[in-house]
Amino acid sequence: MNNYISKKIYRFFESRNILKIKFLIHKLFKEKDIGSINLDFTDKPSRIKIIKEIIQIKNYKSYLEIGCFSNELFDQINCERKVGVDPVSGGTIRATSDDFFKKNIEKFDCVFIDGLHRYYQVKKDILNSINSLNEGGIILLHDCLPNNVYEQAVPRCQYKWNGDVWKAIVELRTYKNLDIYTCYADHGIGVVFVRPNRNQLNLNKDNFLKLSFKDYYENYKEYMNLISYSKLLELVKAI
Ligand SMILES: C[S@@+](CC[C@H](N)C(=O)[O-])C[C@H]1O[C@@H](n2cnc3c(N)ncnc32)[C@H](O)[C@@H]1O
Repeated sequence: MNNYISKKIYRFFESRNILKIKFLIHKLFKEKDIGSINLDFTDKPSRIKIIKEIIQIKNYKSYLEIGCFSNELFDQINCERKVGVDPVSGGTIRATSDDFFKKNIEKFDCVFIDGLHRYYQVKKDILNSINSLNEGGIILLHDCLPNNVYEQAVPRCQYKWNGDVWKAIVELRTYKNLDIYTCYADHGIGVVFVRPNRNQLNLNKDNFLKLSFKDYYENYKEYMNLISYSKLLELVKAI
């Protein structure tokens, strides 16, 4: 399908009227609204500040961004080598993350995953990024902390949306060989270190997609391994 047609289809399904219908369908037939966990990101650092600071502290030389949109973040990053992957707009490579990783042989110091916000895709993006990460590098992800059931509903049913990125974090938190945190900033910044897990989540599930928002609502601090920005900087300095 050419770019023009895929942009039109994308815009149709994301248009406000269609979202209103999806919102109603969700409200009537899907998981019930159990309230908000009330995370307030207003006084917390932005993804731009966080990523710039990490790159500066570690003197990282290469940066990969998956999902760039209007380059709001990508253009702010100072790094010798920058690659941005997006099938629709922004960045430097017009492709889906799957197509990019199929061909990619380059390794990066810092990867920021902010493409398709669906559990199965985010999990793939993390696992593919691990193979494209230099030793001592870091993987960061956007939108890991939804506040209410609608912000994480799939399919998307409102403009403000994190998707179910959180489910990929919860699943990978059960792995022995990945050390994963979520920083309380900018809608939740996931942090992945490729090293033995220091706080492995003990959760025996055969399908993490089936986790409900209620599961998250009741356990998000433990499931996501929530940390402050100062703790994140401490962990980064210690790599
Ligand atoms: C939330 S925006 C990215 C915002 C940007 N990272 C920033 O911080 O300003 C999500 C982007 O992901 C892109 N996207 C959607 N599916 C993707 C995929 N499979 N692979 C890579 N990017 C994808 C969309 O085209 C969109 O531009």
